[in-house]
Amino acid sequence: MERLDKVISGMGKKSRREVKLLVRQGRILVDGVPALSAEMKVDPDTTEILLDGESIGYEKFTYIMLHKPAGVLSAVEDRRQSTVLDLLPQELRRRELSPVGRLDKDTEGLLLLTNDGTLTHQLLRPRSHVDKVYYARVEGELETADCEAFAGGMTLGDGLVCMPAGLEILSPNEALVTLQEGKFHQVKRMLAARGKPVVYLKRLSMGSLRLDESLAPGEYRPLTEGEVNGLRAAVNENISTERQKSSKDFC
Ligand code: URA
Repeated sequence: MERLDKVISGMGKKSRREVKLLVRQGRILVDGVPALSAEMKVDPDTTEILLDGESIGYEKFTYIMLHKPAGVLSAVEDRRQSTVLDLLPQELRRRELSPVGRLDKDTEGLLLLTNDGTLTHQLLRPRSHVDKVYYARVEGELETADCEAFAGGMTLGDGLVCMPAGLEILSPNEALVTLQEGKFHQVKRMLAARGKPVVYLKRLSMGSLRLDESLAPGEYRPLTEGEVNGLRAAVNENISTERQKSSKDFC
């Protein structure tokens, strides 16, 4: 059970203060009866809540695909710098969304934002083995030995032990990198360790979810039901089969 004002304000269009006023004006019906108080407890999954005769369109969780531009932090708030939440309208910012994993400030591409804590946790835990695919442009020339090093599971000079990862060379200085984990600056650190520093990085996909290329950097859209179901299915499937990749999967 949740407070009525929390449920309605969580939909993003009204603040809690506005809900209080709407209740006083008798404009909110709860199961056909005018709400008596903004603090009354309701079960939003089973209760019909109408505002001026229209359903408030309650959805338990919100899932947003953002094409993260370079120059913003993957954080909920920051006192000095702009964050990915600043790219969303107030209506969405009120929904307590958080980024699922982080991209560096200068990294672009797919960023999922949601208030579904369970799915966030499932996508990020290492044992879910969710593939994250990045497009990387580097200085220097990529070679087969780099693919083999990635596939074998690298241990970096700073002690970072990496799971087997994919490196598909697209051109001498471009590659697709596939990781099943997300340690700090991992793609950059792995490529730097091979003497090929990253000059541009963009995330293309996370599990079955692909960046919608019709979104320009800074644009966003809600996930479709199929996309959300695809992510849920992938997490459960990978867990049940414990699909940790080995070097054979990558080379
Ligand atoms: N690896 C990196 O180095 N940076 C990112 O933003 C994501 C993965």
